[in-house]
Amino acid sequence: MYQTRSVRRGDPRLSAALKEREREIASEALARVSAQTRTVAAELLAVRFVERFAASVEVADWTILLRWVDGACRRYAGVLAVAPLLIAVAETVRITVASAAGLPCDIREIDLVHAEIERLASIPRLVREPALHEAIDEIDVALDDLIARLDDSDPLTAEHSRAVSSWCARLGRRLALAKHDIVGVSRCGLIHDVGKITTPLEILNAPRRLSDEEMVVMRRHAEDGAKLIAAMPLVNHMTPAVRNHHERFDGRGYPDGLAGGSIPSFARIVSVADAFNAMIGRRPYRPPFAPSVALERLVENRGTQFDPIVVDAMVDVVTNRG
Ligand SMILES: [Fe+2]
Ligand SMILES: [Fe+2]
Repeated sequence: MYQTRSVRRGDPRLSAALKEREREIASEALARVSAQTRTVAAELLAVRFVERFAASVEVADWTILLRWVDGACRRYAGVLAVAPLLIAVAETVRITVASAAGLPCDIREIDLVHAEIERLASIPRLVREPALHEAIDEIDVALDDLIARLDDSDPLTAEHSRAVSSWCARLGRRLALAKHDIVGVSRCGLIHDVGKITTPLEILNAPRRLSDEEMVVMRRHAEDGAKLIAAMPLVNHMTPAVRNHHERFDGRGYPDGLAGGSIPSFARIVSVADAFNAMIGRRPYRPPFAPSVALERLVENRGTQFDPIVVDAMVDVVTNRG
């Protein structure tokens, strides 16, 4: 088992101070690693490290952090440069704690923890597929992280994403998908707009129609989201649905201009759920449409913008036939 034991009592004050600064500490840590290691996935991992560190400090139990470090080294072996990243975050936390005025703490104990992290990070790991139960837990954790970030930057898009996810699940059931595909498509619905994390808010929330240049920036969210997801272990299989959720059935969509059956099937489902929910939802530049009007628009664009089978399923779902 892990070689460091706490001799102190929990320190809720230090824990709260660390939690408050978790994003700041994560970005300082990222500045200490190579440019290739500086991905969004790495940033999420760094934030998670600080959270676990704070949780350990709060109850004086370092096994919370060390068990997580061990697991992260194992899970992300071969996917992320996890060892240098975790060592960089550990060092940044150490510096933060050492320089925090008025926060009583035992730096020697933190040094011992640091040494243990270095030991765990240096163990050679097998690159392997995670066990199924572990993958399911981890996917949800990774998705929660993403949605929390989206909520921070744009709560309206996060709310839209949750709604799209539940429309996708209902569509999946209506389309008689296998259980795991229903889960899969609803997860894709949840993160389809995650690329909007990087879209400037003045464009996202513009109370008017966007200019051509602004539209180009807005449209980038499909590719940006796909890049973000592609860099994340365990959720990168959702990349096609995220990248292609704005394709049109007639091939006039973006970013790849795919048509018909060459559009990934989850993307075709997300596309209908997304359009419907966008129409019935609040938008900064127009009032919501009534569900019946939104449904009419989907039917009008059946076979041009949308997959006809998915539109038919949506009609059934919304009119309670599904
Ligand atoms: Fe989108
Ligand atoms: Fe959307």
